[in-house]
Amino acid sequence: MSKNKFSVNGSFKDSVNTVKFLTERMHFVNSAEAVLPTRTDDFGVNKVAKSLHPKEQKLVISKIEKHSDIATSYFFKSETAPIAYFKAGQYLTFKFEIGNAVVTRSYSIASSPASALAGEYQITVKRINDGFVSDYILDNWSVGDEVTAYAPEGNMTYCPLRDADNIVAIAGGSGITPFLSLARAISQGDENCNLTLLYGCRTSDEILFKEELDSLCEKNDKINVVYVLSDSDEKGYEKGFVGADIIKKYAPEGNYSVFVCGPGGLYKFLETELPKLGIERKYIRFEVFSSGKKVIDAKDFSITVINRGKETVIKAGNNETVLCALERAGIEVPARCHTGECGFCRSKLISGKVYIPEGEDKRRVADMQFNFIHPCCCYPESDLVIRIN
Ligand code: FES
Repeated sequence: MSKNKFSVNGSFKDSVNTVKFLTERMHFVNSAEAVLPTRTDDFGVNKVAKSLHPKEQKLVISKIEKHSDIATSYFFKSETAPIAYFKAGQYLTFKFEIGNAVVTRSYSIASSPASALAGEYQITVKRINDGFVSDYILDNWSVGDEVTAYAPEGNMTYCPLRDADNIVAIAGGSGITPFLSLARAISQGDENCNLTLLYGCRTSDEILFKEELDSLCEKNDKINVVYVLSDSDEKGYEKGFVGADIIKKYAPEGNYSVFVCGPGGLYKFLETELPKLGIERKYIRFEVFSSGKKVIDAKDFSITVINRGKETVIKAGNNETVLCALERAGIEVPARCHTGECGFCRSKLISGKVYIPEGEDKRRVADMQFNFIHPCCCYPESDLVIRIN
């Protein structure tokens, strides 16, 4: 049927045209196959959905770039299928088998969406004190290794219907990666917002991607980058922390959205700084994180896990999330964000009590009423019985 075959003029003709239109539509309905097709994989829409949301992606490490003793970028390609597209600001979740543990961890994608179309992802991993998975990656991943990742996820992306056209992005340490991706996307014409990037580090040596950020800033009016050093006073850098004063100094006139990604301390600091600016809450977006639980009296509990009808009993400390205990015991849980947001790890709490840090309970109301939990942000406070998957 041609697109503009029937015009609508708000007259008697409209009724006539509607009848014609319905008749023609019934002709198509009646001439369609009477039996529903059994193979739907070849439908265009299903192919697109599958390529955007693959269950798993087998990726091969194609390049490793060391930035410093503690930060390294990994580049991935797929040798079997095109890699899934993403929006700047999203993350990739990787699956690891370390000893007996089956673990998942998420890393923001540093490359631009355009590079995904060209078949490549980039993530940057920073060594952290007692970082189980990050240290494993830095010590073990080599070029040519195959790794398993899920489809890109995450909501800290620019959305013109929701966000202001001006984004003030506040990055701390390796939290720069989603904003590097956004800056790259703006410079490649794939995002149409203005970016003021306030990048906080302790010293100038810790700044990642400085050369590229400076070049993106120099070549594009839509991108402005300011470095803020907390521990050293150097020419050409702001001194201090990215708080209300620095934001006020560099934020554009009028409305702006604030995006934040960095360590837990940065979020805590901004919780008291951002209200000073009078920004509407809807314009503030934090990359989600978990603040953890302060344990005074460490205790061990048992968790009875029912997984597809099979029961396993594992040990769990009250200082670790239920998900950590499950992963450590080698029980595979479909987890992605590790912050309670995505809902992938949703499980039924059959009995027992869990602690959920304040402000981190992102369950649906119905899930709360029917005792479903997100094990990634729950800490055991008694012996538990849970059903996963
Ligand atoms: S992993 Fe996302 S909610 Fe638990």
